[in-house]
Amino acid sequence: MGNNRDSRQADFDGQAERFDTRAGLGDSVASAVAHALLTLADLGDRNWLLELGAGTGEIGRHLSESRRYVAIDSSPRMLQSPNWSKRDRRVVANGDARWPVADRRIACVFASRSAHLMETEHIARELRRIADTSMYFVLGRTHRDKNGYKELLRTRMQEAARERGIEPRDGRSHVDRLLESLSNSDRAGEATSNLKISLISPTVATSWVSRGRPIDAIDSWRSKSGLAGVTVSSNVRDDVLRDVQAWAEQRFGDLDAEQDSPESYVLTGVRFVRT
Ligand SMILES: C[S@@+](CC[C@H](N)C(=O)[O-])C[C@H]1O[C@@H](n2cnc3c(N)ncnc32)[C@H](O)[C@@H]1O
Repeated sequence: MGNNRDSRQADFDGQAERFDTRAGLGDSVASAVAHALLTLADLGDRNWLLELGAGTGEIGRHLSESRRYVAIDSSPRMLQSPNWSKRDRRVVANGDARWPVADRRIACVFASRSAHLMETEHIARELRRIADTSMYFVLGRTHRDKNGYKELLRTRMQEAARERGIEPRDGRSHVDRLLESLSNSDRAGEATSNLKISLISPTVATSWVSRGRPIDAIDSWRSKSGLAGVTVSSNVRDDVLRDVQAWAEQRFGDLDAEQDSPESYVLTGVRFVRT
């Protein structure tokens, strides 16, 4: 596990320069997400917002404007992206260690496409420690239509990995488990002291259709050190991706021709209230 984490961290440092081109949300989506989050969490001027795994700051730069905001990320190079401005508070920190914020001080914790890379139990402990009298914990992720080219390729890639005995790391079920464990611990009365935790209804922040070439999606997996969120040898990765490419040629024909992927960005989470 340790090795997996180290290689993921190295991966993000290595990807930092190209991250927005390869996996960025684009400014109009990022600003719509920031707007939806701020509406949902209803933050006042004096409330603190903590962003976990904030990356290149596509969303963070919209959150930091005129409010108390701190971003943490384990990758120094992601936090050095030119998206950030000098005044934005950024701390290189591992989300799996103690977060660099004081007890009972935070009104909103936001994690976009990053919580699944951290340890569930540790996140739950830190949330209980830092929650102000009321705190939102909001998770953001991209939802892709199952018939869009990106999701079709991802599904085939995961199948091909399983056929070779590799169990893909499923970020979505990880996040669902995290929310479930937070709300269950509250129901079971395990929550420390007087914290009440309730699920918030999922909100679609924005929807769009992304267009791209299947070959670029496959090549971007080729350029990563792991596959499906796990460490694999380059031979295994190449073998899986040869299989995916052959399947994609059958499915799409010309892999250089652009295809559609309908997508949306969804916010889910829980609210903590100290009673
Ligand atoms: C997929 S990127 C998402 C970046 C950004 N939140 C977004 O949605 O564009 C995941 C980010 O989480 C960071 N990350 C991964 N594991 C982490 C950990 N254990 N602690 C802190 N940050 C971590 C990575 O360095 C990377 O910047």
